[in-house]
Amino acid sequence: MKNSIKSFSKARSRSSIKNKRLLSIADKTIIWSEENFIDFKFLFNDPAKLNLEIGFGDGIFLIDQSLNNLDESFIGIEVFESGLTNTYKKIKKSNLKNLKLINGDVIQILSTNKSKNLFDLIIILFPDPWPKSKHKKRRLLKSDFFIVLQSLLKKDGKIIIKTDWQDYAEEIKETLNKLDYQHTHIYETSNLKELKTKYEKIALKENRSINKFLIPSIR
Ligand SMILES: C[S@@+](CC[C@H](N)C(=O)[O-])C[C@H]1O[C@@H](n2cnc3c(N)ncnc32)[C@H](O)[C@@H]1O
Repeated sequence: MKNSIKSFSKARSRSSIKNKRLLSIADKTIIWSEENFIDFKFLFNDPAKLNLEIGFGDGIFLIDQSLNNLDESFIGIEVFESGLTNTYKKIKKSNLKNLKLINGDVIQILSTNKSKNLFDLIIILFPDPWPKSKHKKRRLLKSDFFIVLQSLLKKDGKIIIKTDWQDYAEEIKETLNKLDYQHTHIYETSNLKELKTKYEKIALKENRSINKFLIPSIR
């Protein structure tokens, strides 16, 4: 995967001294860093169901899912250290054993990992849209990225993506068609049953509809 252009804002990923201190003393079996991460298979020992969230932000979805599905295991990847430390505090407070976090750039982490066929679900909620034309090359959801995500899915696994940016949704649809990946595209104003993340709430408040993609494993 090409990784010279960063898909995240360096300013946002910078950490406060307090967060740095917490990360330095955090339980290393819960938070892994991009530098000490080796492979997803070392995070959980033979989990029945394994789920991955990429760019979990403040962790609201991950924490909710982990609390409500104690028989499943969850991994979250996030470069934004403030979101990461807040999620870590919630894991400790709830004594959650089924959620682990990796701090760093997903592109680097996925290129370090060598295991395949791991995940039942990979979820990406409101990836950074980079709306300006000159920044669109920073978008995460490109062909190479989808190919790696597919290699990580189990046979009956699936990828779920949500975005409120119409032109990003069009780009995703084009990429999936070019790759010949089967997918379902739902366009909705609000799904009352589903938990709303911070960015979904912002989108709905600003009257942007939500595009949801469901992409099954190609195997
Ligand atoms: C728009 S926010 C959405 C956050 C959350 N999913 C939500 O719906 O509220 C996008 C998140 O993706 C993270 N992100 C962007 N590029 C990333 C990368 N290359 N590796 C890891 N995280 C990344 C950002 O730090 C940010 O927290």
